Amino acid sequence: PCRLLILISGNGSNLQALIDACADGRVDGQIIGVISNVPDAFGLQRAARAGIVTAVVDHRQFENRSAFDQALLATMQSFDADLIVLAGFMRILGDNLVNAYSGRMLNIHPSLLPRYPGLKTHQKALANGDKEHGVTIHFVTAELDGGPLIAQARCPILPEDDEASLAKKVHELEHQLYPLVVQWFASDRLHCQNNQAFLDKQLLMEPVQC
Ligand code: GAR
Repeated sequence: PCRLLILISGNGSNLQALIDACADGRVDGQIIGVISNVPDAFGLQRAARAGIVTAVVDHRQFENRSAFDQALLATMQSFDADLIVLAGFMRILGDNLVNAYSGRMLNIHPSLLPRYPGLKTHQKALANGDKEHGVTIHFVTAELDGGPLIAQARCPILPEDDEASLAKKVHELEHQLYPLVVQWFASDRLHCQNNQAFLDKQLLMEPVQC
């Protein structure tokens, strides 16, 4: 199985989706560790409950971003991971760390990238009067939310939607999409080369719509 190391900052519902998918065989993976930058992230309890090793690298304990990055990288390297999975990890990672896992780090982002990189994506989609919203999974590069896109899933925005209802819809999409894409990587179908994503050796000119 593919050795997965998952980074979280919060609730960890995507972590849970991956725990469940590894347990029932939808993902040929083993979660070898969970790292959080937030000591009381609920996702750490989910990991512990599943018998997964956890570690905390609290960004507030470091003088600056590069010191945090160095400590985080050291902790990550203490696990022998095949794939790093960012699952609601809310810190920006430095070039050094990102380059250490080039082509081996995925992120999930709650918007239809390249729309709305950064924070408050549901709010932005509503404010813009978008008719559609969704989720994107991409390879992580040094450019924030800017790495090669892999897959997207969409939902309509209805007149009655607000941030909470959109967040709920997006989460449901995420919990389906992340295990699927992680399995593509685990089964050696998904690659990243020269800043481009490939599925079954085909260059993805656009993210796969799921
Ligand atoms: C998810 O919606 C994920 O897309 C988002 O954080 C949430 C984490 O939920 N990630 C980002 O915004 C990354 N910048 P979870 O902790 O329940 O998995």
